[in-house]
Amino acid sequence: MKSEIAGFYKLSIEERRNKIAEITGIVADEEGGFSESLNVEMADQMVENVVGVMGVPLGICTYLRVNGKDRLVPMAIEESSVIAAASNAAKLLRGGKGIIAETTKPIMIGQIQLMDVPDMELARSVILEAKEELLQQGATYTKLLVELGGGPVDIEVRELPSFGGDDPLGSMLIVHILVDVRDAMGANTVNTICEGLSSRLVELSGGRARLRILSNLADKRLVTVKGKVPFEAFCKKGQSLSFGEETAKGIEEASVFAERDPYRAATHNKGIMNGIDAVLMATGQDYRAVEAGVHAYASRSGRYTSLSKWRVQEGFLYGELSVPMALGIVGGITRIHPTVKQSFNILNLQYAHELAEITASVGLAQNLAALRALAMEGIQQGHMRLHARNIAIEAGASGELITIISEKMIASKQVNHEKARELLNK
Ligand code: HMG
Repeated sequence: MKSEIAGFYKLSIEERRNKIAEITGIVADEEGGFSESLNVEMADQMVENVVGVMGVPLGICTYLRVNGKDRLVPMAIEESSVIAAASNAAKLLRGGKGIIAETTKPIMIGQIQLMDVPDMELARSVILEAKEELLQQGATYTKLLVELGGGPVDIEVRELPSFGGDDPLGSMLIVHILVDVRDAMGANTVNTICEGLSSRLVELSGGRARLRILSNLADKRLVTVKGKVPFEAFCKKGQSLSFGEETAKGIEEASVFAERDPYRAATHNKGIMNGIDAVLMATGQDYRAVEAGVHAYASRSGRYTSLSKWRVQEGFLYGELSVPMALGIVGGITRIHPTVKQSFNILNLQYAHELAEITASVGLAQNLAALRALAMEGIQQGHMRLHARNIAIEAGASGELITIISEKMIASKQVNHEKARELLNK
């Protein structure tokens, strides 16, 4: 499969659908195709108090190459310029032979909170001595996972002392159950194991159990993606290599700003999550869980910082991003939601770690695109050009006036509501 499709965005919707169908071999627009979406009856089976269904645009990120494989990536997002930016930077990263991705094992953490433990040290050693017994008991709650090569793999014990001040409680003992969840996100499995093991942990510790729940700080389920861009890839026709070098240096300076400053890091990481969340939405993942884990991970040193790092070295800009990524290709709505099913057809994945690698790669690309624009011409030029149609609609344009007004705003370099209204009145 190839993801290098020059000018994909210039095609009509039908041509784009046909192109994706031609490349991937999936159905373009029959039943089960792109236009089949969630209906209200299906929605009513999924959540509570349903009164309707809300649509979100679905687009395709082109040019992405991960571990030597081309990938066409579905992205669902309401914000203009994100899919264009991800494709743009995926193209730049192709100039450095694409992205290299690595994942750790799919280990999720379940937490059991033990209160009123009479002797913390004794309880810790008793629990650790009973590790094998606890792991075996835990495995009985998830037989299928064990058959697939997963299941509980380790136990950790942590004491959380009182913070003092307005913290009203004494120490508590927290037991972590580490579970290899294979290709699932793992929340249900881990929660079942935690609830199942809690009474034995109460017996072992002499305390009482309170919370028994998965942690969304999935820092044992990490994905790291790396890519590089040669200086010349930043140059458009007629631009010298020094322009490419200046661009790379600008991105490095932007990166260090975010590494040093939490105010900037929050925005920098939001840009990364623009790409990541859009893939998560298109593939029906729990994006809230990933968001929570990613931002907690960004604070792991005790100071909130950037998730990515960009450095200039010997004619290249090198980028790297590490994020916890608890994704599943089984369970949840992955086999229920028609659009999600179609996204999986396009991605054609065998394992959850592939989805994690692709998703983080889109995050890295998105970050590169935003930093390149911010460091050079500024974000507004490209962003607002793509946002012009939305602004024209907001100002009251409809039909062919949408295109006329947005093109006139771009030509006048004034893409804003005031200009849109002025043109509409004219
Ligand atoms: P450009 O240099 O004018 O594009 O960029 P180009 O005409 O040279 O085209 C290069 C490639 O970009 C194309 O390749 C497409 O893949 C893609 P081709 O197909 O021609 O071989 N591309 C498009 N794809 C879809 N629709 C389009 C389109 N145009 C180009 N209309 C572009 C134009 C907007 C891509 C560029 O200016 C850009 O990347 N800007 C960054 C915009 C951005 O990052 N938006 C994300 C939201 S803002 C954000 O992340 C929050 C932020 O606060 C984060 C932070 O602070 O770090 C900024």
